[in-house]
Amino acid sequence: MHEYTIQFFYAVAAVCFILALKWLSAVPTARRGVITGILGMLLAVVGTLLKPELLERGFGAYQWILVAFVVGTVIGVPMALMPMTAVPQRTALSHAFGALAAALVGAAHFFLESPNLSKFTMGALGLEVLLGFLTFTASLMAFGKLQELLPQRPIVFKFQNIVNLSILSAAVLIAIFLIFDPGHKVLFLVMSALALTFGVLLIIPIGGADMPTVISLLNSYAGLAAAAMGFVLDNKLLIIAGSLDGSSGLILSIIMCKAMNRSFTNVLFGGFGQLQVATGQVEKRNVRSASPEEAAELLATATSVMVIPGYGMAVAQAQHKVRELFDQLTKRGITVRFAIHPVAGRMPGHMNVLLAEADIPYDKLMEMDDANPEMPQVDVALVIGANDVTNPAARHDKNSPIYGMPIIDTDKARTVMVIKRSMNPGFAGIENELYFMPQALMLFGDAKSFVGEIVKSLASPS
Ligand code: TAP
Repeated sequence: MHEYTIQFFYAVAAVCFILALKWLSAVPTARRGVITGILGMLLAVVGTLLKPELLERGFGAYQWILVAFVVGTVIGVPMALMPMTAVPQRTALSHAFGALAAALVGAAHFFLESPNLSKFTMGALGLEVLLGFLTFTASLMAFGKLQELLPQRPIVFKFQNIVNLSILSAAVLIAIFLIFDPGHKVLFLVMSALALTFGVLLIIPIGGADMPTVISLLNSYAGLAAAAMGFVLDNKLLIIAGSLDGSSGLILSIIMCKAMNRSFTNVLFGGFGQLQVATGQVEKRNVRSASPEEAAELLATATSVMVIPGYGMAVAQAQHKVRELFDQLTKRGITVRFAIHPVAGRMPGHMNVLLAEADIPYDKLMEMDDANPEMPQVDVALVIGANDVTNPAARHDKNSPIYGMPIIDTDKARTVMVIKRSMNPGFAGIENELYFMPQALMLFGDAKSFVGEIVKSLASPS
């Protein structure tokens, strides 16, 4: 096939990727965004497979691609079937494989072409391999922590930052050296080993709660590695797709950091999640609890209800029951809205996706900043499986690991009802002050069955 046709395929694929990102940023157009992204990737793959240098070589050129295709499918299909709640670790695995691919392509190019590599190509190749290998091990570590195969607690040791920085600096210095003398195969291997080691060391001091933010940062690194690969292979689509991936990952990390009131340095070097051990004095305090029938009665007498969903709603897959509750209450003329915290759940947009799946009207979803001024006028705040994002300690307790994180001002509502199974803490591992406030009622149980019981109670004629 003519080179121009392939470039046309690539240009259309690039437009698809840009439109996909645009459409993915709003719930009503997200499905269209996914389909457009898939179409773009299909065009990119088909365009590449039809390259003249491959076609000329016939089957011999395709046999390894076929093997890779089969291996990729065998790994990719089970990954796609992982449950919604495991999306962060699945994303980490995808980055690991993407970054490994970039690093291996870079390494293969180096060993095939060395020492005949221009300064520019060697510079891009060094960046590709460095970012690729460090992102590979870092993403595997992130996967292990989120999947609880590795301890979630941050692991810290003396002079950690100095050790890490030295390893990274040594790898970068070798990459710079290779630009001027690209014949040193052993040095290239040392650089690769340093990058792999740095990836592991980068993640061990970071606690599980910060992992989604780190994954989005790793997404950015994997994208940059792919863009660098585009420069090495002179492939414009790789440059575009890698840059889009790199910048969107970075923007997402910034949004997440803002939502948790943390800085990048704090995420990467803060050791979040270590503090709880020292707080000591666990005081036994009483909470008030209620049955589904009592909860239904309170809801039925309200005029305004704000639902605050969280990770527990996702675990229980309670969204369809929540929809039934929404229908029951709105049928009675009660105003029901949903206050969505930007980091509720375990991934950005987690709650929006679940509520959209249950066909809750988008206009009933309120962002935190819009919902908070309304909270004092809300009769019942119904917390469904959310914990950290409602903890008032974030506003005043300087010793709390979530201090400074903006929260949904649930405690300002007239009555607060919290559905969760026990008094166990949420992701940050800390007790929630909200549960001990005079206006709070605990509704102990699995979110799906408890909401189901409330719906039954509301539906049955009294
Ligand atoms: P969490 O604070 O993690 O609390 C979830 C609560 O759900 C738990 O306390 C748990 O209590 C309850 N739960 C679990 N399974 C349940 C079930 N089947 N039925 C009813 N309740 C159930 O959740 P959140 O308020 O959504 O906060 C999210 C946390 O993740 C924050 O700390 C946030 O910083 C962190 N985080 C999120 C993101 C993103 S992007 N979303 C990124 C980084 C960090 P029981 O065990 O007692 O039931």
